[in-house]
Amino acid sequence: MKLTIVGAGYVGLVTGACFADLGIEVICADNDEKKIKLLEAGGIPIYEPGLEEIVKKNSANGRLSFTSDIKKAVKSSEVIFICVGTPPRDDGSADLTAIEKVSRVVAENMDSYKLVVEKSTVPVETGEWVKKTINAFKKKDCEFDAASNPEFLREGSALEDFMNPDRVVIGVESKRAEKILRELYAPLDTKIVVTDIKGAEIIKHASNSFLATKISFINALSNICEKTGADINAVAEGIGLDSRINKHFLKAGIGFGGSCFPKDLKAFIHISESLGYSFDMLKEVDKINEKQKEIVFQKITKILWNLPGKTIAVWGIAFKPNTDDIRSAPSIDIMNRLIEGGAKIKAFDPAAMDKAKEELGDKIVYCKDIYEAADGADCIILMTEWNEFKEVDWDKIKKVMTQPAILDGRNIYDAKKLKDMGFKYTGIGRS
Ligand code: UGA
Repeated sequence: MKLTIVGAGYVGLVTGACFADLGIEVICADNDEKKIKLLEAGGIPIYEPGLEEIVKKNSANGRLSFTSDIKKAVKSSEVIFICVGTPPRDDGSADLTAIEKVSRVVAENMDSYKLVVEKSTVPVETGEWVKKTINAFKKKDCEFDAASNPEFLREGSALEDFMNPDRVVIGVESKRAEKILRELYAPLDTKIVVTDIKGAEIIKHASNSFLATKISFINALSNICEKTGADINAVAEGIGLDSRINKHFLKAGIGFGGSCFPKDLKAFIHISESLGYSFDMLKEVDKINEKQKEIVFQKITKILWNLPGKTIAVWGIAFKPNTDDIRSAPSIDIMNRLIEGGAKIKAFDPAAMDKAKEELGDKIVYCKDIYEAADGADCIILMTEWNEFKEVDWDKIKKVMTQPAILDGRNIYDAKKLKDMGFKYTGIGRS
């Protein structure tokens, strides 16, 4: 089987490279010629552990190729995965212009049966629009099917998530489409959930919204723990051992970020609204997340009193470890608040420094490691729980800081040990 992926961004590139690694011939198309040239030359435009290796391996064995000629790519395969961006508009709704454009190119260039699969995260009923667009613009009277196959990849562990998924969801309207998608995923030993297209579209938005709800729940609970002196980590363990709840996504912190949860939550709220239902519970999930960043800011002012003249070391900028992605990272909002308040920021992140420079320019000082960032600082904020931040020479840190204080935004450090060493320790939902 041959597969065309339109959109060589994060989702498209990972999906294409992984399918190629499973033995399928894949052609990845993108209208960004610079990106295609880079990929053809063996470069990778994003940071994702393991991706470079499988892209190189499968390009070399001829199973993975790249092109900026989308028309040719459409013609060359029976199955087309749409993996283009669906960015948020100002009102929170998803901008589906790119999906429409690709549907039109498919329609205008198909000369035999095509299965057009939405892989990008899209609101429910997008499939209907894809079908309408293809029917309106197809030049030849070829049969086609639309389908939805949402991705559940996490940045930083996307390859592992692709190869060992909890489930694969396929939303189809014909046996032919179901058969093709089942065949594609046959090498993965996993449960395949088959629904109609709308069901699959909702599963994607609902999964991300539910996970975001768990995080906002635990962050809200962390405030109750703080007020009573309980420890959120112990409370989360006690809750999470109930298999009906489970322990995942119950880590309190500085709030969720990234290119998915904040955007998908807003898009789901928006599409629900336009369908005539006000999803108030999800609105609250979003509000709690915004408030969590404000709570972190207030904690800092409680530690430092006045911000002007104070230096703050920021450890980690990426929205989570193992990625260079800073989109909707809570650290960015928090740093901007601190800068507005008059504080000086010295920051270090193992992967996101270049992206941070693009976003923040000379508003902050960029350091080579956590020790340089802590030098002369009145407080450290741990924003991202990178593994390499877990082992720290605290004696060295204490010596170089102006005041030994730390806000552990991810609850990864031993509070008692740090307090015994003379640090002022503040966590999230624990004292
Ligand atoms: C998320 C989903 O987990 C994927 O299943 C989905 O495919 C993806 O969105 C997407 O829609 O493309 P991702 O955004 O890469 O993946 O990252 P997560 O690991 O889910 O983390 C999201 C945010 O939640 C991060 O800021 C993280 O720090 C935060 N988080 C996560 C917490 O604050 N506490 C937790 O317990 C877990």
